[in-house]
Amino acid sequence: MSTIWSNTLLSEDHIMVAEGARDFSNKEIKPIAAEIDKQHRYPKEIIKSMAEMGLMGIAVPEEFGGAGMDCLAYTAALEEISVACASCSVIMSVNNSLVCDPIQKFGTDEQKKKYLPSLADGEKLGCFALSEPDSGSDAAAMTTKAVKKGNKWILNGVKNWITNGKEADVAIIFALTNPELKHKGISAFIVDSSATGYTAAKPEDKLGIRGSSTTQILLDNCEIPEENLLGELNGGFKVAMVTLDGGRIGVATQALGIARASMETSIAYSLERKAFGKPIANLGAIQDHLAHMSTKIDAARLLIREAALLKDQGKNYSRQSAQAKWFASEIAMEIATKGIQVLGGFGYTSEYPQERHFRDAKITEIYEGTSEIQKIVIARSLVKEFSK
Ligand code: CAA
Repeated sequence: MSTIWSNTLLSEDHIMVAEGARDFSNKEIKPIAAEIDKQHRYPKEIIKSMAEMGLMGIAVPEEFGGAGMDCLAYTAALEEISVACASCSVIMSVNNSLVCDPIQKFGTDEQKKKYLPSLADGEKLGCFALSEPDSGSDAAAMTTKAVKKGNKWILNGVKNWITNGKEADVAIIFALTNPELKHKGISAFIVDSSATGYTAAKPEDKLGIRGSSTTQILLDNCEIPEENLLGELNGGFKVAMVTLDGGRIGVATQALGIARASMETSIAYSLERKAFGKPIANLGAIQDHLAHMSTKIDAARLLIREAALLKDQGKNYSRQSAQAKWFASEIAMEIATKGIQVLGGFGYTSEYPQERHFRDAKITEIYEGTSEIQKIVIARSLVKEFSK
């Protein structure tokens, strides 16, 4: 089994983090992953343990209560969590990439001191609210507004598809502060879910990642202190785009983990199941599926590590994270489908985990930018690079 894991580009410290996460995943998460899915249950106790292991604020500097590691460490650990449970991995990924990261990158010292330690140690959970009922791929088309009144911001609008929406204590919310300027008139805010006028609506009933909540957030004259503006006034679109560059590495890694789970399930089953007098792992048709799985998984992981490495080096990685996200999510879906084929009828029932991997894989082609959006980001980056 060890050949399925890859230590390429990882240091001793990264490997230690990955092994710790793998061990935890195998012992604590895998045995209950099906139950979490079936009951649509937020895995509170798992998230608490993950926080104790430093997994909820991996790249948050130690001075702000995090593990002080880098994006490579994040992907190494997240892959292992994702193999066991895609719900746990999206909860972890949103908290790290979409909440801690922008606060760390764009926040004031006071904001970092106030929010990062409790987000990293699991006392609090974060969510990221960009999309709206009528604005998803076209993020700049939002209508939520923020108006300054005295020393407060008053937010009004509806945010949609918010992962962790039900449990989140802290939300990064984007709103128009100058509607005439379109994307140049959007600002980012840190909003406590206890703020007046903030409501998390009923969770969506979803195809997959059922242990994580996805809700609307209703902002009805939601009042927040002026100092909760995140980054520059009217600079919110950039905060969103830069944050999503990092978030896409997280979703790519989640997809990679789901793909690996499908392959591991397929290998185990094909060694056990006999047809024509031998385990089906010896049949060419099954080996063809396994070869596709293994090669595409390794290719996805290399794309992810390249993007993570560039992020850690402080270089531009927008194209690489979009490439990693597009490729990893598409192969996760393809491999999950092949996994069902390998298991035949058993793959279609909840007796085996493969149908869950299949359901979980689909969302990775949609959230944090659909595959279609990733291709726009990739092509625009290429044109920009070549026009220099
Ligand atoms: N980094 C920094 N700046 C960036 C950037 C990046 N990666 N991408 C764009 N920008 C800047 C541009 O340089 C431009 O700046 P100027 O105005 O100064 O020139 C500005 O942003 C506007 O750029 P575009 O003209 O390219 O913007 P656009 O309106 O055409 O949109 C887009 C571009 C890539 C399609 C963007 O809208 C997008 O990413 N859409 C998808 C949104 C998305 O991923 N949503 C998911 C939300 S999170 C979620 O899924 C829920 C959850 O809980 C997990």
